[in-house]
Amino acid sequence: MRISLIVAVAENGVIGHHNDLIWKLRDDMRFFATTTRGHCVITGRKNYESIPERFRPLKDRVNIVVTRNTAYEAPGAVVVHSLEAALDSARQSGDAEVFVIGGGQIYRELLASGEVDRQYITHVEGAPEGDTFFELSQLKSGWTCTELMQQLADERNELGFSVCRYDRTEMTA
Ligand SMILES: NC(=O)c1ccc[n+]([C@@H]2O[C@H](COP(=O)([O-])OP(=O)(O)OC[C@H]3O[C@@H](n4cnc5c(N)ncnc54)[C@H](OP(=O)(O)O)[C@@H]3O)[C@@H](O)[C@H]2O)c1
Repeated sequence: MRISLIVAVAENGVIGHHNDLIWKLRDDMRFFATTTRGHCVITGRKNYESIPERFRPLKDRVNIVVTRNTAYEAPGAVVVHSLEAALDSARQSGDAEVFVIGGGQIYRELLASGEVDRQYITHVEGAPEGDTFFELSQLKSGWTCTELMQQLADERNELGFSVCRYDRTEMTA
């Protein structure tokens, strides 16, 4: 199973503020939906709760919520108590590619584990104020970048952005 993460990040590493997104990028939302549809998505409890109730669990996907709270309930989603348990659950479902969809804590933990194979990164123009960050400097080595999409700011997207896929560079002996 390929382990992928998917994130939209500003030039200063900001990904969120007050447990919410900070931009409206409809075409990036569409990219997110098309890319993750049919797969398992792993989310931290805070990110899950930041999704408007009418949109969660995210449809056409197995939603796996990570929390330390053993009494936590998320109807229609799978609840687990560690990132490893989340990855095991996705493996057991037979998914060929699982998507870790945030937020900040879960991305950090996944990157620290060294288990991520692919990163889908939406590079958003600008440096907004925020309280949740994604580490961009980790992309500087060990990853091969393929640009998938470029979008100027317009009536559907309040900021310009580009979407890149980063695949872990194969190590040769
Ligand atoms: N721009 C983007 O692409 C993007 C994507 C996703 C999210 N976001 C933003 O990110 C922010 C949320 O991120 P966040 O860092 O605050 O929270 P988060 O990563 O979504 O969730 C953190 C929670 O996950 C649980 N957790 C974390 N590590 C765990 C572990 N090892 N074992 C068990 N449970 C664990 C804990 O839940 P309990 O407290 O219940 O134990 C913890 O409080 C929001 O602003 C959201 O909008 C942005």
